[in-house]
Amino acid sequence: MKHFLSVYDAPSISELVQEGIRQKQNPFADAHLGKNKTIGLIFFNSSLRTRLSTQKAAQNLGMNVMTMNVGTDSWGLEMQDGVIMDATKAEHVKEAAAVVGQYCDIIGIRAFAELQDRDKDYAEQVLQQFKKYAGVPIVNLESATRHPLQSLADCITIEELKTTIRPKIVLTWLPHFKPLPQAVANSFCEWVNRIEADFVITHPEGYTLAPEFAGNAQVTNNQEEALKNADFVYGKNWSSYAEYGQVLTQQSTWMMTKQKMDLTNNGKFMHCLPVRRNLKVSDDLLDSEASVVIQQAGNRVWAAQAVLKGILEG
Ligand code: CP
Repeated sequence: MKHFLSVYDAPSISELVQEGIRQKQNPFADAHLGKNKTIGLIFFNSSLRTRLSTQKAAQNLGMNVMTMNVGTDSWGLEMQDGVIMDATKAEHVKEAAAVVGQYCDIIGIRAFAELQDRDKDYAEQVLQQFKKYAGVPIVNLESATRHPLQSLADCITIEELKTTIRPKIVLTWLPHFKPLPQAVANSFCEWVNRIEADFVITHPEGYTLAPEFAGNAQVTNNQEEALKNADFVYGKNWSSYAEYGQVLTQQSTWMMTKQKMDLTNNGKFMHCLPVRRNLKVSDDLLDSEASVVIQQAGNRVWAAQAVLKGILEG
């Protein structure tokens, strides 16, 4: 693997999932691979899981880790080529990415959607500029449109817990008052559309995901119908793609509860976290046996380790 920006960089989802499971069983087996290598983790946005799990994965592989929060630890970075830099951003990504590439063998980047301009967000400017100028492999730690390390961890979790070869997997929109990016939902679709599953997406009207991500999944505005006989329910809020970045509804009837899980086939509840309790998901569901969110977050380490191993070997 050269870069890991999306599912298209994964040589095979099933091999990467199996590699993650192997890393979980024997975390230090490949500690020689990263000896004398350094990963730089660059954050334009906050993180708990991505930051710590990627750091742990790199350390398990013997790598050195450097982490930086752009804007607070570093200069603000200008992404646009050819501009007069007479505003607040003091350094251009051309120099910044190239310099970080001098210090690091792999660079991880987190840069969320700004939710102002759909074309700009979906062009993935930050990720693409780092890829263009850094000269070393780039790992997506959640970009404007995708969160592939999360999706790989989700696929590992599904593989560990599934009781049938072709599980029914439901992605359900959850209510939130704040506009959130589509990245986690997009990415989950992109990966689940490529594994053995019956995949259903349910959301209120106006929340249709971009067609290149929703793919051939069945889509319904009827959450109750979608949940019937589900083996896995994946909850996530996202803002509108059509009316870009808008919160069109906050209907609390879309909150996931333990009672709704009674419709499923003894299903497991998944969420990428962080989650706002009793706004998106009820206490009684998150605290129940059906919730696998902690196992899912734990698997972020093994997803990152499988990816970093693939890049180090490449
Ligand atoms: N799921 C996830 O990416 O968590 P963080 O935003 O805390 O990294």
